[in-house]
Amino acid sequence: MNIILLGAPGAGKGTQAVALVKEKGLAHVASGDLFRDNLGRGTELGKIAKTYMDKGELVPDDVTVKMVLDRIAKPDCANGFLLDGFPRTIPQAEALDKALSEEGKSMDKAVSVAVPNEQLIKRLSGRWICRGCQAPFHMVDAPPKEAGKCDHCGGELYQRDDDNKVTVQNRLNVYMKQTAPLIDYYKGQGKLLEVNGNQPVDAVSKEMLAALA
Ligand code: AP5
Ligand code: MG
Repeated sequence: MNIILLGAPGAGKGTQAVALVKEKGLAHVASGDLFRDNLGRGTELGKIAKTYMDKGELVPDDVTVKMVLDRIAKPDCANGFLLDGFPRTIPQAEALDKALSEEGKSMDKAVSVAVPNEQLIKRLSGRWICRGCQAPFHMVDAPPKEAGKCDHCGGELYQRDDDNKVTVQNRLNVYMKQTAPLIDYYKGQGKLLEVNGNQPVDAVSKEMLAALA
């Protein structure tokens, strides 16, 4: 099964992906994580991406599409993958559909996770991420068992540069303008599933798994 997780910044895409890929045996492909990995390794791609990510703007489609298509061509994606943060524009969705159809494949479902804006802002301001496995935590709502340490891999937790107030607001604006139209795109393909993301993490997971069953 190939699944897309659609949702605004802070909707819980990364949080839900952790449980979903385990349950469904999928590879987790998060475009933001791929950019941050490149950034950490100081690659050219990372340097290009940083100039956009710091402002909360989208990285250009050609760069992003190539990076994700290269990633889903890897062997661990052969039995299914979960896309988190991609596609984020209509041209990205069209490029994905085209590339998959050339191999006789397609996306199966797009799960849209809805959360009110004030809740998104609260979540992002309290978020901590694992440097090792990228799992997200929240200092109030989803704290790690041990302060500063990842529950899953023991990695160090840090706060993302783009989780500051000004950048978060721009990320939300960019989402509404450039990414929200994908909800209708996948509705039109009969692949859209809608989940209420404004409930405890486990309740969201349960609703998502039921929708995908
Ligand atoms: P990306 O890394 O994809 O960030 P994003 O979409 O802004 O989403 P986030 O990762 O911030 O949120 P999330 O939905 O994963 O929430 P999380 O689970 O962490 O992209 C970053 C940047 O990279 C972009 O701005 C852009 O520049 C670039 N980029 C990436 N993809 C691109 C693309 N396709 N095209 C162009 N550019 C691209 O949860 C958030 C917090 O809430 C956590 O603290 C968590 O613990 C908490 N939480 C989660 N669920 C719940 C719940 N149910 N109840 C309470 N708290 C919860
Ligand atoms: Mg994320």
